[in-house]
Amino acid sequence: MKLLLLGSGGREHALAWKIAQSPRVEKLYIAPGNAGTSSVGENVAIQATDFEAIKTFALEKGIEMIVVGPEDPLVQGIYNVFQADEQTRHIAVIGPTREGARLEGSKEFAKEFMQRHQIPTARYRSVTAETLEEGISFLETLQAPYVLKADGLCAGKGVLILPTLEEAKAELRDMLNGMFGQASATVVIEEFLSGIECSVFVLSDGLHYKVLPVAKDYKRIGEGDTGLNTGGMGSVTPVPFADEPFMEKVRTRIIEPTIEGLRQENILYKGFIFLGLIRVDGEPMVIEYNVRMGDPETESVMLRIQSDLVDLLEGVHQGDLDTRELVIDPRTAACVILVSGGYPETYQKGYAIQGLGDTPEKDSIVFHAGTQVKDGEIVTDGGRVLAISSYGESREEALSRSYKIAQKIDFTGKYFRSDIGFDL
Ligand code: AMP
Ligand code: GLY
Repeated sequence: MKLLLLGSGGREHALAWKIAQSPRVEKLYIAPGNAGTSSVGENVAIQATDFEAIKTFALEKGIEMIVVGPEDPLVQGIYNVFQADEQTRHIAVIGPTREGARLEGSKEFAKEFMQRHQIPTARYRSVTAETLEEGISFLETLQAPYVLKADGLCAGKGVLILPTLEEAKAELRDMLNGMFGQASATVVIEEFLSGIECSVFVLSDGLHYKVLPVAKDYKRIGEGDTGLNTGGMGSVTPVPFADEPFMEKVRTRIIEPTIEGLRQENILYKGFIFLGLIRVDGEPMVIEYNVRMGDPETESVMLRIQSDLVDLLEGVHQGDLDTRELVIDPRTAACVILVSGGYPETYQKGYAIQGLGDTPEKDSIVFHAGTQVKDGEIVTDGGRVLAISSYGESREEALSRSYKIAQKIDFTGKYFRSDIGFDL
């Protein structure tokens, strides 16, 4: 099979690495990819949202499956666009339709969906500039801290958690006044939930589903989960508290009502469902839906999938996922992200990366996130630069392998968190 993977981050390098292991793969292209993906496939200089260019390329190369890494192409309707076009209809697009992608593309839609299907989530009120007063009244009924979410996509920056009512009211006004442009013209105000979070990844063909390894990510820049939010500083799988009784609740109260709800609403969804969950007094609740794999969770989750991912994806497309095998590696996998100094605020790019060529530790793999080849040299090209993933018999072992490599690899301004997994 000839496949095209869309995206350019660490998630995509991990997906490409796993896809390329399948004996089914004749050729794998990644658009646009990064310096790492070019070691497992062929990079193509096409942006993941340039549907015209993707179509032309796919037809020229005889692409049979398109795997979508990031959310933007899905929210913009790549599934629908390829389905509506006679020339591209035969290509399997792995990901939901535009309607399904609203689970991530609109926080208001996601909350209403959960309410319609009795899926446990925080109490909320959705407001616009016209209904600001209702929002203020709702805020007054809540306890601190206060959670405000821009309805639309904000590249992961649209959630504010405010310690006081005064700040919450002020920020609510600012958001509705265009703090995030059109994305915050509607704001979801939520009750704050207190608990520990985990990421549950589900692969669905619209009827059947498989639960991939559960992971936990670390979003804050500083040790002990302090400081600014980032795209993710590390991840670990499995998650000890996501034990069988907990997962049974996740399946019956969240995964199955989600898939059944989509089906009832005639929303075609063949792809990954990412449930951002929080455990509150032992019970799972949904913090958010994403319609793709997580980053940096994918960089540890892919290590634990022993089965052929392409076979599973084919099952997703053909609607017979129930007949495909998913074998999960019992070992632990952990990932540590190396970032550019200054990230997630301003940082420099273009620094040479040293130590990449050294024989990697056995049981480890270095995925590229923000890298580029410049004059034959691999240089930094983003805030998050590398994802160092390792297997271990324990979390400690997996992490110590990744940290050993994190010390060896070097570039100007390198920073990483040395406490990934600290809370488990
Ligand atoms: P999101 O962009 O929806 O993932 O939100 C970013 C982060 O904000 C989540 O991972 C949570 O840590 C936190 N968060 C979002 N909603 C809530 C909530 N209702 N209660 C507590 N924390 C929340
Ligand atoms: N790790 C969280 C995300 O991918 O959104």
